[in-house]
Amino acid sequence: MSFDRVANCYQWMEKIVFRTDLEKVRNFHLRLVRDAESILIIGGGDGRFLKNISEIGTDAQIVSVDSSSEMIRLSQSRTHNTELDVRHVCQNFQDFEFSENFRPDLIFAHFFLDCFTEDEVILIVNRLSKSSLKSTKLVISDFFLPEKGSVSGIYRRILTYVMIRFFRLFCRISAKKLPNIPKIMRSTGWTCTAHKSLRDEFINSWVWELEGYSKRP
Ligand SMILES: C[S@@+](CC[C@H](N)C(=O)[O-])C[C@H]1O[C@@H](n2cnc3c(N)ncnc32)[C@H](O)[C@@H]1O
Repeated sequence: MSFDRVANCYQWMEKIVFRTDLEKVRNFHLRLVRDAESILIIGGGDGRFLKNISEIGTDAQIVSVDSSSEMIRLSQSRTHNTELDVRHVCQNFQDFEFSENFRPDLIFAHFFLDCFTEDEVILIVNRLSKSSLKSTKLVISDFFLPEKGSVSGIYRRILTYVMIRFFRLFCRISAKKLPNIPKIMRSTGWTCTAHKSLRDEFINSWVWELEGYSKRP
C-alpha cells in the first residue's frame, strides 16, 4: 500500500468532496495536545495536522509515522520552521517498534484505520493497547455508516463505496468496506470518553481510553 501517487493532490481531493469537514473533525480534540508529553500520530499524512498542533503549541515529544515517503516529505516541509519536537518515521506502522523511552500518552489516528480490513484493524488496535499507558488517550477520526434508510444515508453509502474503490485502485489499500471502528474498539477493551461528529455521525472523532482506567466526562 502506498499513498505516494495521491500525496500531492490529497488535500485538494479532500476539499472537493468534504470541503472543510475533515479538517474540522481532525481538530475536534486538538486541545488534548496541551496536556500531553508524548504524542504518536499514525498515518499522519501531509502534515496539515502537525501544523495545527504547532499553532496551538506543545512541548510534547511527537513521533509521526507514515508509510508514504511523499506524505513524509510534505509533512517535513510543513513543519520544518515550527518549534515542534517532531520525529518523522517513514515506515509501515505494523513494523514500527515502540521504544522504552517513547510510550505515548496521546495517540492520533485520523482517517487511517479505514485503509484496513477489520482483522487488520484489530491487530493494530491490540498493538496500541500493549504499548499504551493506563492514561493514554487514543483519538480516532473516521467514517461510520449509521443505520440504512434515509436518502443522505444512501448517498453516504455510495460515496464510501467510491472512495474505497478509488483508494484500492490508486493506493492499494486492503479495506473492502468500512471497518466498524466503535465495535472493534469496544471489543478490544477501550471505552469511548468523548465523541463529536458531523453529517449525522458519518464523520467522527472519538476519544478512547483503556477500559477500567477512563474517567467519564
Ligand atoms: C487516508 S490518508 C489520511 C492522512 C491524514 N491522517 C489525514 O487525515 O489527512 C491515510 C494515511 O495513512 C498512511 N498509511 C497507510 N497505510 C499505512 C501503514 N500501514 N503504516 C503507516 N502509514 C500508513 C498513508 O500513507 C496516508 O498518509
